[in-house]
Amino acid sequence: MKLKLVSLLAATCVAAISLPAVASEDLAKANGCTACHQLDKKVIGPAYGQVSACYATKDAKKLVDNKAKLVKHVIDGGAGVFGQIPMPAHPQLKDGAKNAELVKIVDWIMKDVKATECPKEFKPK
Ligand code: HEC
Repeated sequence: MKLKLVSLLAATCVAAISLPAVASEDLAKANGCTACHQLDKKVIGPAYGQVSACYATKDAKKLVDNKAKLVKHVIDGGAGVFGQIPMPAHPQLKDGAKNAELVKIVDWIMKDVKATECPKEFKPK
């Protein structure tokens, strides 16, 4: 019985450690982001690898600012950063648990998605 509990705990730990990256990608799918965004290829929206490359910085404070900007842009929508195609607004991600999901997705883009190249048309707002 004790052994069973220990192995159950161990299994839970492994799941908890290996979960975050996968979970965030699943969140992007569940929230419809993957209809326009892939990891390494521009489709309708920029590849997440491009987003990661364009906003990467070694300055921790600047990184926090950049992530806040990205969260805001996803909520408000709009065009002009990666070209003229607009991202639709996502007002449903503004508050509460849904907002926490968006913050997680943006954290994942900046931390876990492999940066590719920042495109020439990139114009940060
Ligand atoms: C209908 C297509 C579409 C959907 C759905 C969509 N996006 Fe976008 N996304 C775009 C486009 C187009 C841009 C580029 C906008 C621009 O150039 O200003 C963009 C830009 C971005 C950026 C970069 C913003 C910036 O300021 O540089 C991030 C991050 C992003 N999207 C994340 C998301 C997330 C997370 C979701 C899901 C909640 C999502 N997108 C859903 C089309 C989409």
